[in-house]
Amino acid sequence: MQTLRYGIIGGGFIAEFQIRALAQMRGIEVVGLTSRTAPTALADTVREAGLGDPVIYDSVEDMAHHVDVLAIFAPNFARVDHMTQIAIAVRDGAHIKGIICEKPLARNLIEAREVIALAREIGAPTAYFENQIHMKMLQNALAQLSTVADQMGPLTLARSSEEHAGPHNAWFWDPTRQGGGVLSDMGCHCLAVGWYLLTPKSKSPRFLEPISVTADVALLKWGQPKWQAELLEKQGVDYSKNPAEDFATGMVTYRNPETNQKVKAQFTVSWMYDKQGLRLLIDGLGPGYALEANSLRSPLEIFIGDTAASSVADAELGLEKATASQGLLAIQPNEPDLYGYTDENLDARDAFNAGSDGLLNFDYGYEIVRLTMAAYMSAERRSVVDLTDPATLKELDGYVPLIQRGRGFEVL
Ligand SMILES: NC(=O)c1ccc[n+]([C@@H]2O[C@H](COP(=O)([O-])OP(=O)(O)OC[C@H]3O[C@@H](n4cnc5c(N)ncnc54)[C@H](O)[C@@H]3O)[C@@H](O)[C@H]2O)c1
Repeated sequence: MQTLRYGIIGGGFIAEFQIRALAQMRGIEVVGLTSRTAPTALADTVREAGLGDPVIYDSVEDMAHHVDVLAIFAPNFARVDHMTQIAIAVRDGAHIKGIICEKPLARNLIEAREVIALAREIGAPTAYFENQIHMKMLQNALAQLSTVADQMGPLTLARSSEEHAGPHNAWFWDPTRQGGGVLSDMGCHCLAVGWYLLTPKSKSPRFLEPISVTADVALLKWGQPKWQAELLEKQGVDYSKNPAEDFATGMVTYRNPETNQKVKAQFTVSWMYDKQGLRLLIDGLGPGYALEANSLRSPLEIFIGDTAASSVADAELGLEKATASQGLLAIQPNEPDLYGYTDENLDARDAFNAGSDGLLNFDYGYEIVRLTMAAYMSAERRSVVDLTDPATLKELDGYVPLIQRGRGFEVL
């Protein structure tokens, strides 16, 4: 197997998580890192994981000349800049075998089109990283149910939720930099999972045609004075002036272009889930069969009593976004694998080595941005967004949600 040389852009939370995933597979060496500030801690993690001895570069453009794959693990607001730098390097002779982009592909369709245009110019295979589709628990459920679905027909309703108590860094909370609130941040996961679960076996992830979207957004916790003050103090973000939603829910209706059958995907996301930590709750209902996955159910629990609690080092060692460090705790021993990070890198590795796109490419990421924008539009206008209407599609192309424009107080 050919070893692919990764160059990672961004040295924060997801980069560290991805290193833990890469350490569980073969065929990847991390040879370059670049971030806003020199990612020396990440470089140590890479070396400790035995994944390489990475060089820290001053810029994406510089790094692109020394790696096979550019992995964009940096904040949403920098997507176009990073793709532009890769394109400049390629114009200067850099040879790239693949580009990875973490979700979301962009903050809106205007930026997403720039990303896509640059990707076309660069000409390398792409992989849009939507980890949840690669989760073993979902892939396994679909494999187990495959013959049942052949006999009974595909799933007709998918419900997907992702919830935790709020992001770890200030830029996520700032709707202008992140692209909105929890709908932009985590809605993209659930929109993708719903679409994928409903898609008949052996069809491409974009086979089902999205025909309408309804959504509702709200600021249920972090707009209250006590929590607003905490947010201002801890993250420097003022939700009395520039709020974003901490709750969103909605429904996408899809049409099977071969049978004309309509199926639905419901999504719910929140930053106000004050339970143990991150929870992904996904179910699918078909005629006579069902699947259900809950990431908080683990065969492993630990208990830490009051007297022992002072010795807890880091609650997040046990579970992403953990909110408690004592009592009966849910622990996930291998989160990078549980959430699909290992398998999305395996998919990208094999695809790039074969000179092709990953299962989900940037064009797919573009469609997820479109669904996210449709959800914001529906919530803003309190109406159903009809994706079969050419005028609506044209409007979505240039649409930037009020919340993303810093005018969330008009919506929430
Ligand atoms: N798949 C998932 O479940 C998941 C989870 C978390 C984050 N993400 C995505 O990963 C991306 C990064 O999120 P994160 O949690 O690592 O954020 P983070 O804030 O923890 O880390 C961001 C890193 O990028 C660096 N950075 C900031 N501006 C930069 C710039 N202009 N150029 C280069 N580097 C820059 C920061 O210094 C930091 O090292 C986001 O797009 C986010 O949506 C995905």
